[in-house]
This record gives sequence, C-alpha cells and structure tokens, in this order.
Amino acid sequence: MKLPLHKVLITEEQIKRRIKELAKQVTDDLADENPVFLVVLRGAFIFAADLLKELNFPYEIAFISASSYADATEPVKNVSLKPCHDIDISGRTVVIVEDIVDTGGTIKALYEFLKKRNAKRIEVVTLLSKKARRKHDLKIKYVGFEVPNVFVFGYGLDWKQNFRGIRDIMALETNDEV
Ligand code: XMP
Ligand code: MG
Repeated sequence: MKLPLHKVLITEEQIKRRIKELAKQVTDDLADENPVFLVVLRGAFIFAADLLKELNFPYEIAFISASSYADATEPVKNVSLKPCHDIDISGRTVVIVEDIVDTGGTIKALYEFLKKRNAKRIEVVTLLSKKARRKHDLKIKYVGFEVPNVFVFGYGLDWKQNFRGIRDIMALETNDEV
C-alpha cells in the first residue's frame, strides 16, 4: 500500500521526550499503587511499550481490544470491547493506556467495563487527544499531545491497517476515504 499524502505532525524525538515526562508524572502519582496498565489494542501497543519501559515500580499489564472507528468523520458510537484474557481488576488501580482519545466513547465504555469489575481507581494515559471532538465529559489526567481535528497515523496508529510502524506521528493531507 502506498503512503497517502501526509505531513509529520509530531516527531519521534518529541514523542520520546514527552513520554519521559508522562512517565515521571505517572511514577509520582502511582508508584505505590501496584497498578494494572490496561493497553487498548491495537493502536496503543507501541506507546505502551515505550511508556512502560520508563517505569521502575511494580505493575501489571493487561490487554483489551476496542473498536469503534469506522471512518474519520463519523466514529461509530457502538464501542466493542474484547478482553484478550481474564482481567481480574477487583480492588485495583487501573490505568487505561490509549493511543488517542477522540469523541471519548471508547474511554467511557472502558470506564463502565472497569467499574462493573470493581476497579478501585481508574486513570487514563493517552498519547494523543482531539479535544475539539469530545462528546463525553471526561477527566483525563495524562495527555501526551493535543492534536487538531485531522486524521493521524504512525507510531502504532494505522491508516487502513497499515503504517503502524512509522516512528513519527503523521497527519493525513488528502481527502481520500479513511
Ligand atoms: P473515541 O471516539 O472512542 O475514539 O474517543 C477513540 C479511537 O478512535 C480511533 N481514532 C483514530 N485512529 N487516527 C487513527 O488511526 C485517528 O486520527 C483517530 N482518531 C480516533 C482510535 O483507535 C482510538 O482508540
Ligand atoms: Mg485505539
């Protein structure tokens, strides 16, 4: 598949620097909590790996698959969550690790999923946020970068299921169907 028309929005260096800052914040707040980092697949896998490598305290990792996004302009409201394994988070502090929070529908669904399973405390760390598109009132404590309302890919995020391995974050610059 050919790379679509794009520009670099956030460089690998900027991402690395910001992740170190996020890791410090998370450590200051949660080092004594023995949290479970719940990685939202597929987009967050690279961010999660880089972030978690910066954390030097006890924690667990769990994975859940979420899908909600049919195209760039109209996110499907029905969020489907598929845990990748048994997730026992009763009484635990859970940190959702996301690639991007857009309307907030996915995070809302994850909150409900975790509350139903008696999580003690729920936090969110997201690499990217498109605040302009938020439809749900959410408090998100750890945000890497606010991005404009453009389709982004690279660094774990896909364009038509491709290009997740690109090291920078790209902004799509075409009207192609996404
Ligand atoms: P909601 O609306 O539930 O959406 O907050 C979150 C999910 O939508 C996907 N998403 C994107 N994926 N480029 C992508 O590759 C984008 O610009 C984009 N915006 C939203 C993403 O999977 C996220 O978890
Ligand atoms: Mg995602």
